[in-house]
Amino acid sequence: MTTAIDSVELTRVGPGTVMGGLMRQYWIPALLSSEVARGGAPVRLMLLGEQLIAFRDGTGRVGVMDHRCPHRCASLFLGRNEDDGLRCVYHGWKFDVTGRCVDVPNVPPHQDFKHKVSAKAYPAVERAGAVWVYMGSRAEAPPLPAFELFDAADGDIGALLIQRDCNFLQALEGDIDTSHFGFLHAGHVDPDAIDADDPIHHTVAIRSPEYHIADAAWGTQYAGYRAAGPGRTSWRFGNFLFPFWAQVPNGELGHNVQVRGWVPLDDEHTMYWVLWWKRGRSAMTQQAAPAFKDGAPIGGMGRDNNFLPNTTDWLGRWRLAANAGNDWHIDRAAQHDNTIYTGIDSIHLQDQAVTESMGPILDHSFEHLAPSDLMITRTRRRLLTAARALRDTGVPPPGVDNTAVFHDARGGYCVSDAARGWQEAYAEQMAAASRPLPVTHAAE
Ligand code: FES
Ligand SMILES: [Fe+2]
Repeated sequence: MTTAIDSVELTRVGPGTVMGGLMRQYWIPALLSSEVARGGAPVRLMLLGEQLIAFRDGTGRVGVMDHRCPHRCASLFLGRNEDDGLRCVYHGWKFDVTGRCVDVPNVPPHQDFKHKVSAKAYPAVERAGAVWVYMGSRAEAPPLPAFELFDAADGDIGALLIQRDCNFLQALEGDIDTSHFGFLHAGHVDPDAIDADDPIHHTVAIRSPEYHIADAAWGTQYAGYRAAGPGRTSWRFGNFLFPFWAQVPNGELGHNVQVRGWVPLDDEHTMYWVLWWKRGRSAMTQQAAPAFKDGAPIGGMGRDNNFLPNTTDWLGRWRLAANAGNDWHIDRAAQHDNTIYTGIDSIHLQDQAVTESMGPILDHSFEHLAPSDLMITRTRRRLLTAARALRDTGVPPPGVDNTAVFHDARGGYCVSDAARGWQEAYAEQMAAASRPLPVTHAAE
């Protein structure tokens, strides 16, 4: 059971909060590298409840900082992007990408004090086509997480962002809640209409899987399992990885190299990030949408995302046209005639609709968790225990210093001999898995 105090401590992410403290231990993806043009306009950016701006100076370096000028707090969003920094338009003070003040032109030279003031900037690096920031208090930032995906060259990594209008936790929990697939996404799918070796077949043939769950070095791990014919077991493995990452079984375990981040913008808005290895095999790399055995596409499983144009608002980036204000474009006729179980088109939008429909921060006192939710309760406990240990005793949470703990985590499905244990089946698949060959990253 999640108590009222647990609920608050799990979901609030601003400065000074328990979960905000945990998240500030890690590098956080902030925006795509392509969102900040060299010498171009600064971008407004909300992250962990802080109003920031990002910009790329004339030499190509990226800076991320509090949007308020440290002089009299005019917004640096209005700033002039010059070769070696951003100049506040109010009195002309100028800051480089590290926040160092390099010019105070409105005071006489003999009163110059630029060495005594700096903008509140956060360390930023670029990796996998994204700008990552470290918002913690260490003088020296820890390393980036050692995801297996990061063994790949940047050019072999795909990235997609979609904003979600709710708290990060309920969004993340959708990724570790495997039994919803057979309803939300595939409730209208008759198993007899699907090839017996199609992974969706197992999910819809038995819609009430059983689970194994355990803490893992990277966070938590589950396997949902079902009988898959004589002497065979179908497995769906998924992970929670500190502090807001997940891996889902949307590809074969042996070929599915990706991570999905649920990055809190503030308490009520989250940026979904998916980063994937383009040479792997998963829903992110397949062109064809899932189909019935006669070749007809399965309704509601499209992957198109219809975006609104990005704006310069704090929360104006990567929003979908379908949202709470238009009931996520639900089609009641498609729901009624069972061509789409929800009546909502696209797997991502179905997830978006149900988690946003819970409200900006769901009321945990109203929920009734079931045996199918054990991965969710275990993950909440793991997050809270680590966050409170950090707050109370200063113990760094998993993966901050020993970033290698993330490397052996994957989500995916497979079928094994029924005699195999779940972790045995996982290890067997991982031993034979296709992997990116490690490359050296000069920037790190
Ligand atoms: S407020 Fe920015 S220079 Fe004065
Ligand atoms: Fe889903």
